[in-house]
Amino acid sequence: MYVLALVTQKGGSGKSTLAVGLAVAAMENGERVAFVEADPQGTISKWKERRGNPYPRVVRVADPAEIEGALSRLEAEGIWLGIVDTAATNNALAMRAIAMADLCLMPVRPSPADMEAAIPTLIAIRRLNRRFAFVLNQTPPRGCRLSEAATSLNSLGVLALPYVGQRNDHQDALGAGLGVTEFAQEGRASEEVRALWGWVSKQLNRDVVVHG
Ligand SMILES: Nc1ncnc2c1ncn2[C@@H]1O[C@H](COP(=O)(O)OP(=O)(O)OP(=O)(O)O)[C@@H](O)[C@H]1O
Ligand SMILES: [Mg+2]
Repeated sequence: MYVLALVTQKGGSGKSTLAVGLAVAAMENGERVAFVEADPQGTISKWKERRGNPYPRVVRVADPAEIEGALSRLEAEGIWLGIVDTAATNNALAMRAIAMADLCLMPVRPSPADMEAAIPTLIAIRRLNRRFAFVLNQTPPRGCRLSEAATSLNSLGVLALPYVGQRNDHQDALGAGLGVTEFAQEGRASEEVRALWGWVSKQLNRDVVVHG
């Protein structure tokens, strides 16, 4: 089983939104996916309550020590991808999620303040020697601010592709208990999330090539 953790101490950057979008895109690709929700805010559990579909499963954890056991149980059930959504505020839970992750995704909005706020999480990821990538999220239509942000993030580490634009479909899908690729199958937001899942799955599958 692969573990993908959505992390950054910056609130509202899109951790839960991208976690949901990627989970559903992966399921649509035939993967067995489950969530470990390590955020007392419960964004993913609340989304799941609105969802008339038993999949993906959501397991909530309140204590860092519970994360490893939750992931092991999911693996024993045959889950291929465990996605851990973390809180901006609960550092201990997020640190444990990072330590367990095959890949950490850090959503960052293209503003200097957001990029600055991601640095402590980046330092923690590097200290724990984990693989990571930034995801530029909630981007405006192309402009020079965007390319400046991309250049800065590229200089700090890997930047996932494509960028994820600011689009209402993400908010509406979350509200409807759907992944964005279920909510507006033909929309640009779906296209971007599917492509982002393609990028992420390639990063995860790289392990298979290296160790296989
Ligand atoms: N690409 C996007 N386009 C439009 N809205 C977005 C996008 N990504 C996230 N949002 C919206 O931004 C808000 C914050 O997103 P989200 O809750 O996913 O952030 P978060 O990082 O999980 O926040 P927290 O740190 O509080 O857990 C939500 O209202 C969400 O719908
Ligand atoms: Mg969240």
